[in-house]
Amino acid sequence: MLVLGVESSCDETGVALYHSARGLLAHALHSQIAMHNDYGGVVPELASRDHIRRLLPLTRRILADSGCSLTELDGIAFTQGPGLAGALLVGAGMARALAYALDIPAVGVHHLEGHMLSPLISDTPPEFPFVALLVSGGHTQLMHVAGVGRYTLLGETLDDAAGEAFDKTAQLLGLGYPGGPALSKLAESGDAARFVLPRPMLNSDDFDFSFSGLKTAVLTLVKKVGLGASADIAAAFQAAAVDVLVGKSLAACRHSGARRLVVAGGVGANRRLRAQMSAEASRRGIEVFYPKLEFCTDNGAMIAYAGAQRLAHARPDLGFAIRPRWDLATLDAVD
Ligand code: KG4
Ligand code: ZN
Repeated sequence: MLVLGVESSCDETGVALYHSARGLLAHALHSQIAMHNDYGGVVPELASRDHIRRLLPLTRRILADSGCSLTELDGIAFTQGPGLAGALLVGAGMARALAYALDIPAVGVHHLEGHMLSPLISDTPPEFPFVALLVSGGHTQLMHVAGVGRYTLLGETLDDAAGEAFDKTAQLLGLGYPGGPALSKLAESGDAARFVLPRPMLNSDDFDFSFSGLKTAVLTLVKKVGLGASADIAAAFQAAAVDVLVGKSLAACRHSGARRLVVAGGVGANRRLRAQMSAEASRRGIEVFYPKLEFCTDNGAMIAYAGAQRLAHARPDLGFAIRPRWDLATLDAVD
């Protein structure tokens, strides 16, 4: 089955062609980061308009790259939510219209399911069940994953998402938007031991997170010592955030008896998180799986992949609804 995947939930336009037997055939991405950078964050209306400009040229490009024609498509998967309503509508409208014209099914995919299954786009994918740490700009969740659509929420952030905490801290340090990658780069040249920041909820008896206090602690520290120490502050923040993410993830594995852990979403690209998670997990006999770096942040490949799993079992559906808010634990299981 050949599936076109379309991602347009936020500030990245992503398309991909995934074949259930041949794997990923082509993918392309346009990031709007430079466009939103002037505003210090994503401007929803500008995001929607840019998705309109980019989607068809990107789709033509991956068809050409893979040597496939539109008529070979068996289905189209698009991000149905969660995300920005206007941005979601662009992808949903394009996917539904194309599917209707080609008389093939289209399926709406949960953006976080895309992230969570992204490590499965691999020659050595993890087997189910596993625990998944989802760390993106908008979400921080620990899920138990028994199969496609068999998701149980173990815990989540009570306030800011991990990526949001990276971005807000980066902004405090004057690093622009989104600051996660820049902050982690700066942290590499800093001394993580010079300042000690709190590890919120690290020892709470659950799998929830809280990052807003950490951000406030950074603000207090910046006021006290100034931006001259920004590399050391970045390193201290990153060390605190990573300690919490690693500690909670391994506690969730212990609690659910999982031997496999998947780390997905934009913050999953963080080098320190990957190194510390892998080292501490291996000491406990737990294997950690990450998506390829290019599939950590938003992309069309993860939507094409998740869509291919769902289209194999899909009922015909011509609905056009998007879901700007959507709870991952309510998805239908795929048998
Ligand atoms: O998954 P994603 O592309 O978008 C959402 O679905 O939200 O995640 C974007 C988030 C941003 O907050 C970004 O700063 C963060 O992932 N991020 C990182 C790194 N790369 C991206 N955070 C820390 N370290 C990184 N290397
Ligand atoms: Zn995302």
